[in-house]
Amino acid sequence: MTTLAILTAAGSGTRLGRDLPKALVGLDGFPLVVHAARRLASSGVVDSLVVTCPAGLDSAVRDVVAQDPHVDVPVRVVEGGATRQASVAAGLALAGPDDDVVLVHDAARPLAPPRLVRRVVEAVRAGHRAVVPGLPVTDTVKRVAPGRDESAGGGPAVERVVETPDRVLLRAVQTPQCFERTLLERAHAEGAGRAAAEGLAATDDAGLVEAIGEAVHVVAGEEAAMKITTERDLLVAGLLLEEES
Ligand code: CTP
Ligand code: MG
Repeated sequence: MTTLAILTAAGSGTRLGRDLPKALVGLDGFPLVVHAARRLASSGVVDSLVVTCPAGLDSAVRDVVAQDPHVDVPVRVVEGGATRQASVAAGLALAGPDDDVVLVHDAARPLAPPRLVRRVVEAVRAGHRAVVPGLPVTDTVKRVAPGRDESAGGGPAVERVVETPDRVLLRAVQTPQCFERTLLERAHAEGAGRAAAEGLAATDDAGLVEAIGEAVHVVAGEEAAMKITTERDLLVAGLLLEEES
């Protein structure tokens, strides 16, 4: 049986604000999507790769990823959808009959190390059907009521705190996330509707699995799997890359 990796790269990178999609922005001379694909390939546990790309950029993405000498697994490129979830679904539709395990990873996390890829896949192959990397949270996190609190009137905008969850039990979740293929397919088919009906947040693939009532497990994440959203993140990633070499 084989492991398929879906690498999402179809976003536009609005918050980074460049004139090209974020996945094609360069870091140390290579596009983010290439960094991510290299690390997936060199994990040794990925058999093939599907990259989701922005409309009209299939050949540009195929050229940079499939022709990179360090990406030595078969690469297919598929146009993504309007949302990340739709892009993952487009990639998942290309899973073959032998792909029993599926990884979902974001080009926006270009430096997720190969050992992290192995860790999530090994946990799924050991029998946990949905596994995500997570890091302990260092800030105290508060849940607030939706909207502005108008109880005082005047002064700066305020929100009302509803709850302070125990930080010890919070994890900041990353990608790559790994799933038994049949479970991920069912989560994509049924999870979004269930999450909406029950007011649950399904902002990642694991959230869709939770929404259909199935267990999700967390393994140790990695600082290097940080997400690039802004120019500042890109600077930090550059420093991490320097540290790596
Ligand atoms: N993504 C995707 N298809 C979409 C939206 C996002 O494949 N329709 C991918 C992005 O390419 C990225 C990952 O999902 O690798 C995480 O999304 P995010 O960090 O939000 O990237 P962008 O959507 O590109 O950035 P922004 O939200 O700032 O526009
Ligand atoms: Mg986005």
